Amino acid sequence: MDNLMWVEKYRPKTVAEVIGNEDAKASFTNWLIKKRREKAVLLYGPAGIGKSTLVYAAAHDFKYNVVEMNASDIRTRKAIMKMAAPAVSLSSLDEFSFETKGNLLLLDEVDGIFGQQDRGGVGAIVKIIQNSRIPIILTANNIEIQKLRPLKKICHLIRFRRVRIPLIVAFLRRICQAENIPAEKEALEILAQNSLGDVRSAINDLQTFCESRKILRKDDVQFIPLRNRGFNIYDTLKGMFSANSSVEAMKILNNSLIDYDTLLLSIHDNLPLHYKNPEKLAIAYEALSKADVFRGRIQNEEWRLLKYVFEFLSQSTTIAPGEFQPFNFIFPPTKRYLLMRTSAERTLLKTICTRIGAKCHVSQKTANSEYLPFLKIIFRKKSDQASQLAKWLRLDNSSINYLKKTN
Ligand SMILES: Nc1ncnc2c1ncn2[C@@H]1O[C@H](COP(=O)(O)OP(=O)(O)OP(=O)(O)O)[C@@H](O)[C@H]1O
Ligand SMILES: [Mg+2]
Repeated sequence: MDNLMWVEKYRPKTVAEVIGNEDAKASFTNWLIKKRREKAVLLYGPAGIGKSTLVYAAAHDFKYNVVEMNASDIRTRKAIMKMAAPAVSLSSLDEFSFETKGNLLLLDEVDGIFGQQDRGGVGAIVKIIQNSRIPIILTANNIEIQKLRPLKKICHLIRFRRVRIPLIVAFLRRICQAENIPAEKEALEILAQNSLGDVRSAINDLQTFCESRKILRKDDVQFIPLRNRGFNIYDTLKGMFSANSSVEAMKILNNSLIDYDTLLLSIHDNLPLHYKNPEKLAIAYEALSKADVFRGRIQNEEWRLLKYVFEFLSQSTTIAPGEFQPFNFIFPPTKRYLLMRTSAERTLLKTICTRIGAKCHVSQKTANSEYLPFLKIIFRKKSDQASQLAKWLRLDNSSINYLKKTN
């Protein structure tokens, strides 16, 4: 399998290929190609359902150039005026693009910008919209935030909803066909249902489960962890990577429902997508490795150390605040990295094997290779025998959970 992420590889190139939200799609393309009453449109709705993709697909179909500005470009009034003003004025970039119908300006994820402190940004965007001669498209997940009010008043609002499950199933099936991986219908249904209508998550899950498989069966995806409806891993990653400071990233982390190990691995996977500069990437990994060290020490119930884990995790995603460029996050952690045990897991394993070694008079190594596999089988069955063994070996709850869950 190649290394390309499927969300990129199978990103729709044309409007027709974007699945779901037919009304919203029609309403958007109508606005774009007919005489526009409002100069700007605001596409809003949950993450991963094709808002940004649709803008690029429509630009492709109707031959527009996309001039994109995102969170890091447009925090201040000055920055907005500097970047957007030339793009929307009469002497716009159109002059350089005879082949196209002209430019359109995409302000992607505006709620992300104004959720944080806004230094005149909203006012500047309102002005840009009022004076614009080219179509302006804004996207957002949440339009209920106070700061967006002035924009809502002057934009044509188009709501996007979660994509219906059967459409996602069909889409996943097409990907499997293209990848030459036969898939059971039920397997695709489970993945689609679990995505809760978020196409990006569904494709990411599919890729994770197809990795190193020649065929995808229902049983392979049976135990997929249920996605959280609240602050899910995607929200957490997006929030942490786009935060302005480590303090802001920490706030997001505090509200996340994701377990620390998954988060640590996910940040690990995504750092190279975020930091293109090798020096910054090295600093970020350094911070992450410190987080991992403290995570390992917590295993001995030293929860006061958690604040250091948080601090280093938050640092690792905000080495270069203000330089955030949206990208397609990798999650859940790729299998490759799951195979690499976190130091937390190694510490736990060592504790268990030491206990076994002491009781059974064998080395840690023998405990690991010859005793542990049987213990795991016993513990997975939740028998009386398991609880007696746990008592005998004086295993704590995290060790017991580890034995229950790992294969
Ligand atoms: N409706 C869709 N049809 C086909 N593919 C989709 C659709 N929605 C999302 N995808 C896939 O998911 C990826 C992410 O989609 P996109 O970036 O457009 O989501 P979004 O709605 O803009 O999310 P966000 O609010 O997080 O910016 C795309 O690259 C594409 O592979
Ligand atoms: Mg988007």
